[in-house]
Amino acid sequence: MRTQVAIIGAGPAGSLLSHLLHRSGIDSIVVERSSRNHVLDRIRAGVLEWGSVEVLRAAGLDARMDAEGHVHDGAALVWGGREAFFIDINRHVGSHFMSYGQTKMQEDLYAAADVRHAAIVFEAANVEVHNPLSDRPSITFDVGGIAERVDADYVVGCDGYHGAARPAIPDTVLRTFEKEYPFGWLGIMSETPPLPDLVYANHANGFALASQRNPMLSRYYVQCSLDDDLADWSDDRFWSELTTRLGSTVGGQVVTGPSIEKSIAPLRSFVAEPMRYGNLFIAGDAAHIVPPTGAKGLNLAISDVHYLSRALTAHYDGGDDEYLDRYSEMALRRVWSAVRFSWWMTTLLHRFPEQTAFDQRAQEAELDYLASSMHAQAAMAEQYAGLPFES
Ligand code: APR
Ligand code: PHB
Repeated sequence: MRTQVAIIGAGPAGSLLSHLLHRSGIDSIVVERSSRNHVLDRIRAGVLEWGSVEVLRAAGLDARMDAEGHVHDGAALVWGGREAFFIDINRHVGSHFMSYGQTKMQEDLYAAADVRHAAIVFEAANVEVHNPLSDRPSITFDVGGIAERVDADYVVGCDGYHGAARPAIPDTVLRTFEKEYPFGWLGIMSETPPLPDLVYANHANGFALASQRNPMLSRYYVQCSLDDDLADWSDDRFWSELTTRLGSTVGGQVVTGPSIEKSIAPLRSFVAEPMRYGNLFIAGDAAHIVPPTGAKGLNLAISDVHYLSRALTAHYDGGDDEYLDRYSEMALRRVWSAVRFSWWMTTLLHRFPEQTAFDQRAQEAELDYLASSMHAQAAMAEQYAGLPFES
């Protein structure tokens, strides 16, 4: 097979890139390891920065998002037994964010792919990248027991943290940066009405978060030990911990019910540099991982793909390669900004096992400053809402 851009991975990054390239008249083939339903069954992120909303809107992917998503002017923080305070993103930076599940966004992307008869190969095994430094890179894979090869002008790895693309960048070139956090998040989904706002909590027992997917689907998280497993967390124990950590006022508003999904995820930060090697590019989780605290993972995938589709369009439309040459540097500026912000929010809101009394007081002092300073809240608001894309 032959195409202009070969994309590995049909998650949010790969399927959005394929969609944006198609709108620019650029051909692509997407090769995905899992089945379509397996990708759609994943429970992942739920917050879209307004910049991400605008990318999806410009790409004609906004109908269901506008109909079923929920626009928020900010989010609340609760800590130290005090009343919650609201970080008013609209007031501080004139922006918003959208609660809209990644699963729904993925459904929208696949629906759009079906309309255009997109070339997405599911259940492809043994995907490999070849000759990334040549002007004819290719990928090989097996599907249905048949060996296939796609020759392309460019290969883009949108294949997540465990994908095949990043390893095609030699260790002599690739630099990676990692940070593991000494706790996990236990998340549940329940068919109950959510709280009106997203609420982040710092409590002596640990972090908690109240979020949502739609008016009858709530998403909640509590910080848990990395030694915990799901058997340690009955629904009763979860609801008791969640409402305790949210405090009596906010916790008292929570409508409890049976969990329809429950999972534990570790938290880590990871960045790979550069995000380009010859005619191989990497985007999304293939290049970076953030703790979910700042809701940046999906939004960074969207911003990488926005930059890369703009770069490839400029190349094919007019032979202008400036955005391609600047992709890695430009994407990494936004990645590191979001990685730092996610680290900052995680450090601010969680209880660390090795935390000293000094650390505890310093954390409380920062929360006190955030609660009392409009400047501090404005700084958090503009980073949570997402910084503008570079032109
Ligand atoms: N070959 C082909 N496909 C692969 C391979 C491989 N070797 N390895 C992984 N994949 C596929 C996965 O099955 C997955 O569907 O690549 C896709 C990567 O998708 P994501 O992991 O969702 O990453 P990305 O598209 O960058 O989106 C990032 O998704 O995981 C969440 O929290 C993350 O919200 C963030 C968003
Ligand atoms: C979610 O709705 O899953 C969610 C929201 C905000 C976060 C993390 C996760 O910071």
